[in-house]
Amino acid sequence: MSLRLVVVNTDEILAALTLDEKASLTHGQDLWSTYAVERAGIPKIVVTDGPNGARGPVDPERSAGASICAPCGSSLGATWDPQLIEQIGALIGREARVKGCRVLLAPTVNIHRSPLAGRNFECYSEDPLLSGRIAAAFVRGAQAHGVATTVKHFVANDAEHERYTMSSVVDARTLREIYLVPFELAVREGRALGIMTAYNRLNGTWCSEHHELLQNILRDEWGFDGFVISDWFAAGSTVGSAQAGLDLEMPGPGRFFGPALADAVRAGLVDEPTVDAKVRNLLRVWQRIGAFDAGDAETSSTPSVADIALAHRAASDSMVLLKNDGVLPLAASSIRHLAVIGPNADRVHIMGGGSASLEPQHRTSPLSALRTRLGASATITHEPGCVTDRYVAPLSAALHVDFFAGSDLLGDVVHQREFDSGRVTLFGNPPGTHANGFSFRATASVRVDVAGAHVLSLVQVGRSRVLVNGVVLIDATGDALPRGSAFYGAGSQEQRVEVDLEEDCDHRIVVEYSSASSVPLQGIIVGLRPQPPSDLLDRAVIAASAADAVIVVVGTSDEWESEGFDRQSLQLPGDQDELVRRVRAANANCAVVVNAGSPVAMPWIDEVPAVLLCGLGGQEMAPALVDVLVGTCEPAGRLPTTYPARVEDNPTFTNFPGEHGELRYGEGIFVGYRWYETRHIAPLFPFGHGLSYTTFVVGEPIASSTTFVEGSTLQIDVPVRNSGTRRGAEVVQCYVEPCAPLCSRPHKELKAFAKLWLDPGADATATLTLDDRSFAYWFPGDGLPPDTREKLRMPLVQIGQPDKQPRWRVDTGRYRLHIGRSSAAIDHVLEIEVRGSPQS
Ligand code: BGC
Repeated sequence: MSLRLVVVNTDEILAALTLDEKASLTHGQDLWSTYAVERAGIPKIVVTDGPNGARGPVDPERSAGASICAPCGSSLGATWDPQLIEQIGALIGREARVKGCRVLLAPTVNIHRSPLAGRNFECYSEDPLLSGRIAAAFVRGAQAHGVATTVKHFVANDAEHERYTMSSVVDARTLREIYLVPFELAVREGRALGIMTAYNRLNGTWCSEHHELLQNILRDEWGFDGFVISDWFAAGSTVGSAQAGLDLEMPGPGRFFGPALADAVRAGLVDEPTVDAKVRNLLRVWQRIGAFDAGDAETSSTPSVADIALAHRAASDSMVLLKNDGVLPLAASSIRHLAVIGPNADRVHIMGGGSASLEPQHRTSPLSALRTRLGASATITHEPGCVTDRYVAPLSAALHVDFFAGSDLLGDVVHQREFDSGRVTLFGNPPGTHANGFSFRATASVRVDVAGAHVLSLVQVGRSRVLVNGVVLIDATGDALPRGSAFYGAGSQEQRVEVDLEEDCDHRIVVEYSSASSVPLQGIIVGLRPQPPSDLLDRAVIAASAADAVIVVVGTSDEWESEGFDRQSLQLPGDQDELVRRVRAANANCAVVVNAGSPVAMPWIDEVPAVLLCGLGGQEMAPALVDVLVGTCEPAGRLPTTYPARVEDNPTFTNFPGEHGELRYGEGIFVGYRWYETRHIAPLFPFGHGLSYTTFVVGEPIASSTTFVEGSTLQIDVPVRNSGTRRGAEVVQCYVEPCAPLCSRPHKELKAFAKLWLDPGADATATLTLDDRSFAYWFPGDGLPPDTREKLRMPLVQIGQPDKQPRWRVDTGRYRLHIGRSSAAIDHVLEIEVRGSPQS
């Protein structure tokens, strides 16, 4: 798409606006758009989530037409390939335009601090450099298509527990060295035009009111000149947010900006130039993305063959071959009977839950992709082996919903809507209803396949009761139920009852609902399913024994990995561990596929011959998985996150998910492999790990100098040869270790990486470049009160590193450069001399 820029003079436009018009630009008009000022030619801007595809301006559970669903963040991180991610960013950016949107609410660059954090699937990595390089590439790709990205969530939004109120307690050094880095790289290297503030507080101050973050660091230090948008409902004040540097409150109508901001100016609480600065920031971005040119719209909504191929490549390039004792790739031509076992074989788990979710162009399960590919030459049997549903699945029948203005189901029906399943999600009040309480009656007509015992369930945000054929079976209209994980953590725990249903007749299910109060998100999930058979595991074992090869697809689902809540455990849900063990005992020709976006425990790892992590690979995941299984594609991913052997080993174990309103980042800079390496704790699989179907020789690295002087760069050339018999990819990683650190430092840290694709027998050179930041740490100042310095001016009193100014600091000394293929698999170590900052 060509990007035409209509040049307007934003200063002239600004000067012609009234205070009310200016203030109107600082808040949303509705959930997904901003206000226009037509007389001044300022367009309305429409925004869309998100990180794995452009859903369009609709709620996550609704559709604005299908979108290309790219792999989720942790899979994109696993590609270790910024060039590829730039193309994915471009694909999503183009699609945002197709949906009429100019702002993309992505990328998500928070850090995989705890393996249990609910949104890890959306974020790239536990390492700030890998996250930042991937993010910058995504931003460049998307923004080349007239779309502003909003890098989110700024900052230390690395868990979901009490997510709207939690204070992340992070020391300055940790913030600088770990959590700010992906944002910094997205701004400095990606030239991001937007930043989204996080819900949480940072050291007690709301992120949307954090002047040091939004002004001193973001704008003054990093040179950011884009706009700062709030996360949805994250703005919490007028004066504080205005002065700290928030430019746009979303969604609309705003509670704190918009008319409230204009009133604050009139009351003398906020200066008008402060509002002008916000409008200038916004108009500058609208100008840069070409939004003043109303005619420049992308029209083709059909993805090209190349787009699909790119999504497929991103999926296979993100798959990590964790273990392989020769079972993979499958000898497909000799397989006559393939058993495809596991709850995720016949499930389409291609993205996580929450605001990143969207309607993909197709939903293909691993089982159906395997049948398409191998069904002509082999008999394929399937057994789920166990049930892993966290909730009873929503009714598959359509729900007709009549809304009433008040909370008591009385009076006329003021609005009607059809929902295509038993899930009713309402963002904001339905039309015609009272802001402080409304009600609805939802009705479905249901037939069941098999007569007998069924489980009926209810989850609610509000108060409701469920009637089946006129009889109240669940009554949850009394006291508030304990909170569960559905509805971004606002939903109740699931209520279940057993009910006997006959087949061959219609059953009338009615839900009577009353909203508890005016909250932005309300709704119900009413579920129904037959009781599962008790012999699922046995049936899987029988199927495995009868086959000549077995693929076991285990994993999570968006009921387990989602925005809104963290996981409780690394364990695969249900009886999946037992399933893997018993299936493997029944058939040794067995490969396990793990379909999850965050680390899971694998207590059976020593028993199985092969494990492939397919992640949450987007809509092309299943076809790509089959290509990797049969060997037409290389499993080219590497872990972007350490897989711990035990949850107790992870660095956040004693500080997660926080309590009493505080989440202490007690491990400091020792996040992920920085912790495991420093403490010599062997993980299940280390950061950066991933096998190939071919073999590589990583030769002696050659450094451009044996000395690095602060302010210069050092280049390391690493010769790599594909010594195997097929084309494949290797990721060369460079970790830096200070030999005699003057302060606490991780054992080693990733500072450069390069991914190479090589034909069999071919050689290439991986070029790794190091600069000041590769050796630096953040010196936060000596932390002493100003008068202490005077007081301590006496003989014999020594201050560790007497220096007032916080800054990046490179200490002189010897450093080791570890060149290898994971944080734990190091092929070569070079030692160099570094000449850095003077000590004071
Ligand atoms: C999420 C954001 C998202 C926004 C709009 C929030 O709940 O935290 O990441 O962009 O909703 O859907």
